[in-house]
Amino acid sequence: MKFFIDTANLDEIREAHELGVLDGVTTNPSLMAKVGIKGKNNIFKHYKSICDIVDGDVSAEVISTDFKGIIREGEELAEIDEKIVVKVPMIRDGVKAIKYFADKEIKTNCTLVFSAGQALLAAKAGATYVSPFVGRLDDISMDGIELIESIVSIYENYGFLTQVLAASIRHPVHILKCAEIGADVATCPLSVITSLLNHPLTDSGLKKFLADAATFTE
Ligand code: E4P
Repeated sequence: MKFFIDTANLDEIREAHELGVLDGVTTNPSLMAKVGIKGKNNIFKHYKSICDIVDGDVSAEVISTDFKGIIREGEELAEIDEKIVVKVPMIRDGVKAIKYFADKEIKTNCTLVFSAGQALLAAKAGATYVSPFVGRLDDISMDGIELIESIVSIYENYGFLTQVLAASIRHPVHILKCAEIGADVATCPLSVITSLLNHPLTDSGLKKFLADAATFTE
């Protein structure tokens, strides 16, 4: 399973990269706004800085919602670096654009996916990744993990090459459930990735080992 980090914060991306477990980055307009980047040139420079840190795919989202606008923006974004994946919303013109980009061998991530039907459309259009939002479904009392399971099974039935990128991951159990089901990627905030490190028995065990080691190193 690949680990992507879900942030536009360069320090967090560096930290995850230095941990040695980072396979890519996802961003969205809200995450870009959070780091305070303004203006097209600065936004493009920021995407380039992310690409320079990470060894893997970097999703950059279009903000147009019409076919021509999505194509124009996506082609410009794809020019920034070969690691850029054009993130396109699951809307009618978005699906058409994903097909267009697939024919041009431009990688895409179909975002804002909340049903298996949407995921099926994204795969048929040739999306590189599909992003079902697990946490946002859980937030409205639906089952995000169940959706991941359904999409993985549909893609397996027909041999779709589209990778299932579990998004809106809120806690470590989401990651583990996605791994059990066979999601290709989980994109998570840094805190959720590092929370996998923690276990109280590791802490108490290490404390005891170090205390015992102190008796023979004096
Ligand atoms: C990633 O591609 C999504 O934009 C992101 O995971 C959404 O997460 P959120 O629901 O925590 O905003």
